[in-house]
Amino acid sequence: MLCSGGGTNLQALIDAVERGAIDGKIVLVISNASKAYALERARQHGIPAVFVSKKQAGSDEAFNDAILEKLQEAGAQLVVLAGYLPIVGAQIVRAYEHRIINIHPALIPAFCGPGMYGHHVHEAVLRYGAKISGATTHFVDEQVDHGGVIMQRSVPVLEDDTPDTLAARVLTVEHEILPESVRLFCDGKLGVDGRRVHVL
Ligand code: GRF
Repeated sequence: MLCSGGGTNLQALIDAVERGAIDGKIVLVISNASKAYALERARQHGIPAVFVSKKQAGSDEAFNDAILEKLQEAGAQLVVLAGYLPIVGAQIVRAYEHRIINIHPALIPAFCGPGMYGHHVHEAVLRYGAKISGATTHFVDEQVDHGGVIMQRSVPVLEDDTPDTLAARVLTVEHEILPESVRLFCDGKLGVDGRRVHVL
């Protein structure tokens, strides 16, 4: 798992694994933010938690090399980006082709791409006047928010929504579709055919 923030998506996955809903194990949580509460959540559940400093690494290349090394050392078979902000380096994407899942708080291809993360997404949805939003899980390829869509779930945008109220409504469906997507992956039920992902 790669996380940058509070880790509520990580928590949803921890809970799903602990109740036996996912035939898999979280072997490592890495964050680029030393104070990310996601690291604390991992520690509370006995999951190895590691801070990798982009600054200390000295370059994006070295930063992503360090992350790749830790993922491989841990024997990770799937990488889940849960509230992870840095762009994943090409070396990681190549090493884990169709084995990196990201959760995005909008209905890709809407409101996604560079700079579209966290509240920026919900502000853009409200500014545009969209009537529904939602969350998307997708495989990660070498472009931002571009890989094959695995699952999407929509929520209504309400007249009196603020970015906060919309974010909270979207977060509830994020916590549903991320564990469901990881479960399907662990059960070998995700087939990839070009851009399309099929549930087998
Ligand atoms: C969520 O909106 C997630 O979609 C986005 O980061 C936000 C925080 O996620 N990628 P979390 O609570 O840290 O899992």
